[in-house]
Amino acid sequence: MILFFNSLLIIILACVFIGLVLKIYDIIYSNEAPFVSSPSKLYPQIYKLLEIKPNQTIYDLGCGNGKFLIYCAKHSPKSNFIGIEKGLIPFFISTFNTRRYANIKIYYRDINKFNIKPNSKIFVYLFPKSVTKLIHRLPKNVSLYSLNFPAKGLRPNKKVGLINPTSIAKNLYFYKT
Ligand SMILES: C[S@@+](CC[C@H](N)C(=O)[O-])C[C@H]1O[C@@H](n2cnc3c(N)ncnc32)[C@H](O)[C@@H]1O
Repeated sequence: MILFFNSLLIIILACVFIGLVLKIYDIIYSNEAPFVSSPSKLYPQIYKLLEIKPNQTIYDLGCGNGKFLIYCAKHSPKSNFIGIEKGLIPFFISTFNTRRYANIKIYYRDINKFNIKPNSKIFVYLFPKSVTKLIHRLPKNVSLYSLNFPAKGLRPNKKVGLINPTSIAKNLYFYKT
């Protein structure tokens, strides 16, 4: 009997420990999509496909290290760029990396709780489930570009095959709300 309760206690403690580790990991990084940057050699193509206009607001939802935003901000200095990041480490890294760009703002938020302005453009490099969840809560007239991962169960308006794709990024999926 004592052996049974000891084993049960050990199992409960192990579950609590694993839960805590996962929670801490989620705070530091994010469980929804790993902190993996999109390949920088694809930035020129993605930037061109986004067709950014002056005064437009462009979001990178789950902005990681912020390097894609920096590329865009350098080439479109008259547009506004917003990075949203839930992982603490990538948030600090992107805030530091973008510190010299007045037209980039980084927020430490969950993309599922952040309100997107109508008529804006969004870039994401997230898993299909997150892309779908996001599209369902976007306002009207928003353009969303998803690198490599199509939204689950939704037909993209356009799928563009990238030139010189990498093993982790082959297509850009476009959705219009
Ligand atoms: C694959 S990385 C892409 C980084 C960047 N967009 C790029 O292209 O280099 C995904 C990022 O999204 C962040 N992320 C995942 N889920 C998120 C959420 N719900 N809210 C905010 N950020 C999230 C992760 O912490 C990670 O840094």
